[in-house]
Amino acid sequence: MVQSLSIKTMAVIGAGQMGSGIAQVAAQAGFSVMLCDNRAEGLSKAVLGIEKSLAKLFEKGKIDEHPPAILSRIKKVTQLSDLSSADFIIEAINENENLKKEIFSQLDKIAPAHVIFASNTSSLPITRLASVTNRANQFIGMHFMNPVPIMGLIEIIRGHATSQETYEITKVLSEKMGKVTVCSQDYPGFIVNRILMPMINEAFYTLMEGIAIPEDIDAGMKLGTNQPMGPLTLADFIGLDTCYAIMKVLHDGLGDSKYRPCPLLKKYVDAGHFGKKTGQGVYKY
Ligand code: CAA
Repeated sequence: MVQSLSIKTMAVIGAGQMGSGIAQVAAQAGFSVMLCDNRAEGLSKAVLGIEKSLAKLFEKGKIDEHPPAILSRIKKVTQLSDLSSADFIIEAINENENLKKEIFSQLDKIAPAHVIFASNTSSLPITRLASVTNRANQFIGMHFMNPVPIMGLIEIIRGHATSQETYEITKVLSEKMGKVTVCSQDYPGFIVNRILMPMINEAFYTLMEGIAIPEDIDAGMKLGTNQPMGPLTLADFIGLDTCYAIMKVLHDGLGDSKYRPCPLLKKYVDAGHFGKKTGQGVYKY
């Protein structure tokens, strides 16, 4: 298998908010990056976002290298077949299991045998995604937090067959990208969402039951427990559709009624009010 020191080129599949953030931190760490998305306009938008983020970080002295130099390491590609020269591949498309499986199954034929595959899934089982490849030992979860350039953590998830070597290489790479890692076994929600999402879900029950208005629920948790954002604001930021989907994964996968998604959270999703990205969630944007 490839050694972490010999990894020079990383591929990131999906140029959404997470994928572009991952491409950015990989380029900041000195890797050549191929950012792959079949939507050319999505790729251009991602690069603009990366440019803005790098400019902000540079202005504040949080990075030393000039943004254009970092940006020059990111190459936009639109086909999976363009990724045959990548040394390490991270998938960061939306949480569509069939599409992820289709991509990994195709990549398995394209990528050389030594290449490690990582998924940024926030809730799908790594073991199940790995099962469509012939390299389950070289398959791992690499869960970045949003906003990727700011948040200090990568949650590494070991699938049923993930080898120790794959884990160690992924940990070294994550640290090169300036992140601290924690290691989770492959169970619903891993560590962060297993704990975070029930708190957010409970905030929706608190709202649904008329216990308090959104502003007081958020201020209560923000100031009362020193969190950077209250749980309803954070839910809007993450996406209410994503929060609901993760609660369903916890409920289905763990079978305990304490994980049942709050009906009010579902109602927002049914209404298409997904939070910041749609301009309306618990709050208006
Ligand atoms: N690139 C560069 N800089 C950025 C940035 C980006 N993408 N996003 C924010 N910033 C910078 C801002 O410029 C600002 O810098 P200064 O403090 O130096 O001025 C700083 O980050 C703070 O930003 P803001 O002033 O705009 O707003 P804020 O103080 O509310 O911070 C936040 C924003 C960093 C997002 C903060 O509110 C926060 O940490 N919130 C919690 C985020 C969180 O919990 N994320 C994890 C969600 S769970 C998850 O991701 C897993 C999952 O599967 C759902």
